[in-house]
Amino acid sequence: MTNEELFAAAVKAADNSYSKYSGFSVGAALLTADGKLFKGCNIENASYSLTNCAERTAVFKAVSEGYTDFTAIAIAGSPNKDFSKPCFPCGACLQVLSEFCGSDFRIILSDGEYRLSDFLPRRFSEDSMK
Ligand code: THU
Repeated sequence: MTNEELFAAAVKAADNSYSKYSGFSVGAALLTADGKLFKGCNIENASYSLTNCAERTAVFKAVSEGYTDFTAIAIAGSPNKDFSKPCFPCGACLQVLSEFCGSDFRIILSDGEYRLSDFLPRRFSEDSMK
């Protein structure tokens, strides 16, 4: 799957965004090592802090289905269906991704390809507690 196809899947995933409070739709498309695709969207709540980001929705869907080996995620976010501006992943989602993905994990945004290490060069891990 090309980066363009993966990004298009993220844009499609944003169709299901439940974002009545922020008005900001986000979609994510997570690719497993064996080529399976998990899509996710942001899901907001009247109790704002319970909101789940699109990336974590995709990761939790995949892990709950038995997939933990990932190669890339595409993220698309927009207040108005124009997904040309890059939507950077939040810190919470980076931490969750880092539980399963190494520094080379690819993050595809509207302006190109990044690596997990570009956004999260160091992370809290079980080693931090030793
Ligand atoms: N959001 C995501 O889905 N992913 C991110 O990485 C950052 C923010 C969502 C959460 C909320 O529904 C909306 O964008 C505005 O913060």
